[in-house]
Amino acid sequence: MAMKIPFFQHKQLKESFADPEENIPAHIAIIMDGNGRWAGERGMPRAAGHKEGLSALVKIVKAAAECKVKVLTLYAFSTENWKRPTAEIEFILKLPQTFLNIYLPDLIRNNVRVTAIGDVESLPAYTQKALQQAIDRTKHNDGLQLTIALNYGSRGEILHAVKEILADLDAANMSLEELNEQSFSKYLYTAGTTAPDLLIRTGGEKRLSNFLLWQLAYTEFWFTDVLWPDFSEKEFMEAVGEYQQRKRRYGGI
Ligand code: FPP
Repeated sequence: MAMKIPFFQHKQLKESFADPEENIPAHIAIIMDGNGRWAGERGMPRAAGHKEGLSALVKIVKAAAECKVKVLTLYAFSTENWKRPTAEIEFILKLPQTFLNIYLPDLIRNNVRVTAIGDVESLPAYTQKALQQAIDRTKHNDGLQLTIALNYGSRGEILHAVKEILADLDAANMSLEELNEQSFSKYLYTAGTTAPDLLIRTGGEKRLSNFLLWQLAYTEFWFTDVLWPDFSEKEFMEAVGEYQQRKRRYGGI
């Protein structure tokens, strides 16, 4: 039987890096796609894919913390996902509760700070309660920032920011001259967090699906056909390893 490695103790992970100390992406964002197909391929209900997706999520949070990634942003539920059958929506929206019921003590012990982005107030009470408890109980931690995107849509986020800016201009809380890329960013859900350095999308599709459109302007992208439930530390390391080889020029030469 394979030896069970305790949560957050994957020491051997770092050894597979191109360079374990240098050029680790500070912020990694992930579009966790392919849960439904993973289940379908096995003749299982889609919920089984999401359940397995949660296990992959646990592994990747652990790997990111081990690698000293500063921020991990996970796209868990988009504003477009409401088009799915009610039972599937409920299943996904109960996953934060399931995850936090089991792992919140581990997250606290390992100095992880949980935050959320998206229209959280429109989520069911059970999702909000679990999230809020995790946010409150980890708010003083200064290790990995684990940001869960729930009921998140980037166009909605930008529109929400524009409306708040207009209200602030109207109330003379700010002037038009003060509006620039930096001040605009402060109106986004991601205020205070640097833009992702690396975006990973699993499941074979090569699109952004309304995720962090403003924030990903200069992010490095890494795509894989691997379905999210099969995504492991190995693929995570591959993505980080490739990031370490990239030359980021930000429009310069
Ligand atoms: C996309 O796969 C996946 C989702 C919409 C849900 C992702 C959520 C999790 C993995 C867990 C969230 C839990 C916490 C604690 C944040 P899909 O269903 O679109 O797959 P398909 O493209 O194969 O149909």
